[in-house]
Amino acid sequence: MVRYSELGLVNTREMFKKAMREGYAIPAYNFNNLEQLQAIITGCLETRSPVILQLSKGARSYANETLLRYMAQGAMKIVNSSEHPIPVALHLDHGDSYELCVSCIENGFSSVMIDGSALSYEDNIQLTAKVVEYAHKYDVTVEGELGVLAGIEDEVSHESSSYTNPADVEDFVKRTGVDSLAISIGTSHGAFKFKVKPGEDVPPLRFDILEEIELRIPGFPIVLHGASSVLQEYVRTINKFGGEMTGAVGVPEDQLRKAAKSAVCKINIDSDGRLVITAVIRKIMHENPALFDPRKYLGPAREEHTKMIMKKNREVLGSADRA
Ligand code: G3H
Ligand code: 13P
Ligand code: ZN
Repeated sequence: MVRYSELGLVNTREMFKKAMREGYAIPAYNFNNLEQLQAIITGCLETRSPVILQLSKGARSYANETLLRYMAQGAMKIVNSSEHPIPVALHLDHGDSYELCVSCIENGFSSVMIDGSALSYEDNIQLTAKVVEYAHKYDVTVEGELGVLAGIEDEVSHESSSYTNPADVEDFVKRTGVDSLAISIGTSHGAFKFKVKPGEDVPPLRFDILEEIELRIPGFPIVLHGASSVLQEYVRTINKFGGEMTGAVGVPEDQLRKAAKSAVCKINIDSDGRLVITAVIRKIMHENPALFDPRKYLGPAREEHTKMIMKKNREVLGSADRA
């Protein structure tokens, strides 16, 4: 067994406490490859932001779990030998079974999500409580989910969403012992979050539900999934250079800023990272048809990804200069 503390990682407990107290959110960025990990680490070191590195089940099978552990370990060497180290958690995103959570904990993860949101309420409680019991033996923090987000990703697939019922949250948190709770208030996974006509505003998130939840479990860390803004400059670039992403739209940044000031302590961002990389690579490929050195397009993509992360930490999540 590899303990996360041996890798220089931390769990999310203190991160969330501070974020709650000071009114900002910790960024949780997904990665699947070296360049994404480099962009996240560089962007967060540069902005002195705490960060949650997220790996999905799909990422684990794409990149190989052993290699991922050593990548995280390598990243921590860089972080801890930098002038101003930052707290970093390694988190399993959308864990779908007890066994997967156990495997991650044994491989150095400091935090896991057990996503039982598609199960019945009682089955969700049972599964989540079982994961919590195991995780807490190793001081690994656990995120549960109540309410269903729409969206289709490799490993997460729900056609329609259902909002979290505030009447359930107190019972769920008490009976499972989770450390944080992902809720559904109108976000969804992927790059097509709302169906709106050109020029139309996207519908606001259900802050009324969030407020009711906060009243029922005051001071408890809330997590917002599906929180990419689907930045239109990258969508435009993708469409301009041969892509087809018409109608891609995300959560407006001002709504995320508002959420970050509330009990929302963790904001999950994956699609925005995918978009920026795709936009840069499409443009470079189009403009340089003879190019065949991956460093010549992955490098600039990584640079732009880093800039995007720095901007988000500073201007949206408020996590810059909090480490
Ligand atoms: O919420 C899901 C994440 O964006 C991970 O997506 O399963 O395609 O890696 P993935
Ligand atoms: P996005 O698809 O909005 O980036 O959401 C990512 C997410 O929720 C990962 O768990
Ligand atoms: Zn998610």
